[in-house]
Amino acid sequence: MEDKPGNSVLIVGCGYIGRRVAALLTAQQCAVTGMVRSPESVAALKATGIDGLCADLDAGLPDISADEIYYFAPPPRDGDRDTRMSHFLAAITTAPRRIVYISTSAVYGDCSGAWITEQQPVSPTTGRGRRRLDAERQLIAWSEANDAQWLILRVPGIYGPGKLPLARLRKGLPVLREADAPWTNRIHGDDLAAICVAAMQSAHANTVYNVSDGHPSNMTDYFFRVADAAGLPHPPQVSPAEAETALSAGMLSFLNDSRRMNNDKLLRELDISLQYPELAAGLKSCFTD
Ligand SMILES: NC(=O)c1ccc[n+]([C@@H]2O[C@H](COP(=O)([O-])OP(=O)(O)OC[C@H]3O[C@@H](n4cnc5c(N)ncnc54)[C@H](OP(=O)(O)O)[C@@H]3O)[C@@H](O)[C@H]2O)c1
Repeated sequence: MEDKPGNSVLIVGCGYIGRRVAALLTAQQCAVTGMVRSPESVAALKATGIDGLCADLDAGLPDISADEIYYFAPPPRDGDRDTRMSHFLAAITTAPRRIVYISTSAVYGDCSGAWITEQQPVSPTTGRGRRRLDAERQLIAWSEANDAQWLILRVPGIYGPGKLPLARLRKGLPVLREADAPWTNRIHGDDLAAICVAAMQSAHANTVYNVSDGHPSNMTDYFFRVADAAGLPHPPQVSPAEAETALSAGMLSFLNDSRRMNNDKLLRELDISLQYPELAAGLKSCFTD
């Protein structure tokens, strides 16, 4: 099922990934509108040739209507519900053909380092994961009630040019010592953008995909490799007990979950050929051009 030029496309939360998706769609002659929260972000979109819609998912929204919707906005910071998703779905006046949603792998919770497929039961251990699961469930229920297709991408850590923990490394902030560090998964931003477009245009619908480059490593190894690529010193390592006081609550919330994401279904059904299946090549892309 191919997109026809002329379809109206709305990207809700048109930031780092949204701008990349918009660039791919513009090259396919699609008319793209990006929804963002601030006038500054509308101006930034306009500077790259993308029509911007300034709207706040936490406040009153205009009527929403588009043939295809990419929903990339994060949930609110607190609570167990994604009220932004609720507001958004309630504002849709004509059901789109399909909504592609970027969720997170946090919905799986801790899997003790096991390899997991999409069959893994969801069991979020953090508020972040619970809000994402709530968003997924709202999206599925709304789509089924309104005869729209849905597709959910469970995404792990996104990295790419301008999206590396360089400020943290420059400050010399500590990391958990490697022997205790959990398994983490990653995807390069350019690959994720191509996956989002493939997800919208695929014959497969109403399903969930694990998104990953297929090469998980422990989180400390990731920081070391980013530091090496940037020519920065390795951060100091701390024990789990020291981490409780030395690391921020946000960082600690990433250390409790350990899992390795199997991406077979993604590669097979969406016919994806990743540009950056290995971190080495992906990091190189962050320091060239
Ligand atoms: N970073 C990761 O490693 C990671 C991992 C898994 C999933 N994700 C998720 O993947 C998605 C895409 O990531 P990204 O890097 O492209 O995010 P991003 O660059 O932070 O972009 C998010 C966009 O959402 C908009 N937005 C936020 N709150 C809004 C609100 N209340 N009303 C309207 N718009 C709002 C922002 O608008 P303004 O620019 O005007 O603020 C921004 O354009 C996000 O949901 C992110 O949480 C990220």
